[in-house]
Amino acid sequence: MVSIASTRGHQNVSMLGIGAYRPKRLISNDELCEVLDSSDEWIYERSGIRNRRWISGDESSRQMAVAASERAIQSSGIDRAEIGAVILATSTWKTLVPHGAPIVAHDLGMNGVAAFDITAGCAGFGYGLSVAADHIRAGSAKYVLVIGVETMSLGLDPTDRGTGFIFGDGAGAVVVGPSEENGISPTVWGSDGENSTAISQEYDLVEYMDRAERLQGTGSTDEKVGRLVIRMDGQRVFRWAAITLPKALRSVIESSGVSAEDIDVFIPHQANGRINDLMKKNLGLGEGVPVANDIENTGNTSAASIPLAIEEMLVTGKAKGGQIALLLGFGAGLSYAGQVVKLPPAPVEPSF
Ligand code: UT7
Repeated sequence: MVSIASTRGHQNVSMLGIGAYRPKRLISNDELCEVLDSSDEWIYERSGIRNRRWISGDESSRQMAVAASERAIQSSGIDRAEIGAVILATSTWKTLVPHGAPIVAHDLGMNGVAAFDITAGCAGFGYGLSVAADHIRAGSAKYVLVIGVETMSLGLDPTDRGTGFIFGDGAGAVVVGPSEENGISPTVWGSDGENSTAISQEYDLVEYMDRAERLQGTGSTDEKVGRLVIRMDGQRVFRWAAITLPKALRSVIESSGVSAEDIDVFIPHQANGRINDLMKKNLGLGEGVPVANDIENTGNTSAASIPLAIEEMLVTGKAKGGQIALLLGFGAGLSYAGQVVKLPPAPVEPSF
């Protein structure tokens, strides 16, 4: 009888350290409205956004992911040689082949570790956190680095009234590892492919290459041919969010074993300040429970938004390490993932 070995790891896991990177260039609503047919008042009122950050100069997804990871590793106090896997959540890495995580791992001096990307839109960080926690619980790795990074500005049509004002760039990372008490609840996650066209690239890769080929040599000045532009039917996403997310949030709290009164802070994906306030109200969280509002000056950074928002709250003192936070990522797919977590300590080197 052949017996194949199996592993069992540490059941209690937590985020041990966090780090983030915000691009230097800040774009105000007024600056954006030089090309977008909109106004500062409309954008702020509908989305809660005043500014967003876009990469410039030598900034890139690769550079931001590495910078955020260095800060997360430093804050965790963990020797990087003990990190057994790197998970990169992103939908905007410049190439599908090669994927980003091995490159980031190499840049971090961790060449050789298991390294893979997760593409789950704005829910990507929650998916990554879930996979990391389960890796550690199963004994596949002792420590896992989870990164959310996006350069949304590369796929943005700044003249599009549906998306031009929403998206921003940035990176956030956490080191996940064993802890005395459990700090990451079971994940509640799901998807709705039936509504996937609500957030999608304007062309798939084949259509895009056909178009590029047809336009080649025609002297066309169509600027969009050089980019895979993302389109969003905001109202459709809003309707989906209103039906799906309250149920998901109740289910996250229920499966976490804590009660709604135990939640110290609510840190949802930074898609829209209005959606977030509405979710808090529907959940019946206490008046005094702060809601992350990083969207105001960072925009919607998709898979990077939750770690960036956690970092902002820890750095500004709106939240403290060890507090109980309710997380929920949602977006393209349409997908969502949520957890109740214990927050890591504030980063040693803040991103702002
Ligand atoms: O991160 C991924 C997940 N994404 C989301 O969760 C996004 C969810 N959706 C949203 O956040 C919102 O739908 C938006 C912020 C994108 C848009 O807000 P909205 O309140 O749904 O706007 P709307 O599309 O219903 O448009 C309302 C009005 C329309 O005018 P009328 O028909 O009432 O006269 C639009 O033509 O506002 C007009 N409008 C604009 N005006 C100025 C639409 N876009 C703009 C604009 N600037 N950019």
